Amino acid sequence: MKGIILSGGSGTRLRPLTSMTSKQLLPVYNRPMIYYPLNTLLRAGIKEILIIIAPDHAGNYLNLLGSGKDFGAKFTYEIQDEPRGLAEAFIIGESFLDNDSVAMILGDNIFEDDFSQEIKEFKSGGRIFAKEVEDPKRFGVVEFDQKMKALSIQEKPENPKSNFAIPGLYIFDNRVVDFAKSVEPSARGEIEITEIQQRYLDLGELDVRTFNGQWVDAGTFESLHAAGDLAKNVLDKKMMI
Ligand code: TTP
Repeated sequence: MKGIILSGGSGTRLRPLTSMTSKQLLPVYNRPMIYYPLNTLLRAGIKEILIIIAPDHAGNYLNLLGSGKDFGAKFTYEIQDEPRGLAEAFIIGESFLDNDSVAMILGDNIFEDDFSQEIKEFKSGGRIFAKEVEDPKRFGVVEFDQKMKALSIQEKPENPKSNFAIPGLYIFDNRVVDFAKSVEPSARGEIEITEIQQRYLDLGELDVRTFNGQWVDAGTFESLHAAGDLAKNVLDKKMMI
């Protein structure tokens, strides 16, 4: 299992903070934001990690994270020229992944839970997570039946079929690379990761799991503030890095 941290994008909702640096390098309490998703992967024993970054401020990532040696890991970097969608990560990462499975995490997603078991025990197919939220329209949304079997996946729906958002941690086998290559850009011009999830769902190979701990997508001022509280009050003492 290899890891990808998708840490590009333009961070327009956090301007002017993101005019001077990348969103995922902003402070979340006493650490740069990317430390939290990095910690999630390292904690699960993932040692080879591809960090995908936007061209702006790319040098800051090298200064901060370097080769990975200080973290007991090996980091590889790739530039995503334009934010063409989350699923592009698997195309950019094709040669890095070789034939391996992947745990991809978004550089602005902060989790309280330890996903080591879910990552280590993964064999094949796709595994994603679901969390009840108040504002599902901002996210990919998964609809469940009464037995909590996933029925459908929607990307940022106007009329969500449930309150279960899909957080930014995705585990896929290597078929994800071919699936990503065959996804057509959506109306907003992005290669949507929800399309890939839908492929695995159609094959009956998508495992969707709920989890208990807190999750923050730190992309807005409100959620960035909430992330700082979570980091200070809960995560600080548990971090490996
Ligand atoms: P978003 O928060 O949806 O996008 P953004 O970071 O560009 O912010 P804004 O909407 O405020 O302009 O992206 C979610 C995460 O995925 C974030 O960590 C950035 C990353 N991302 C990429 O690296 N490449 C992409 O093509 C996209 C769409 C997002």
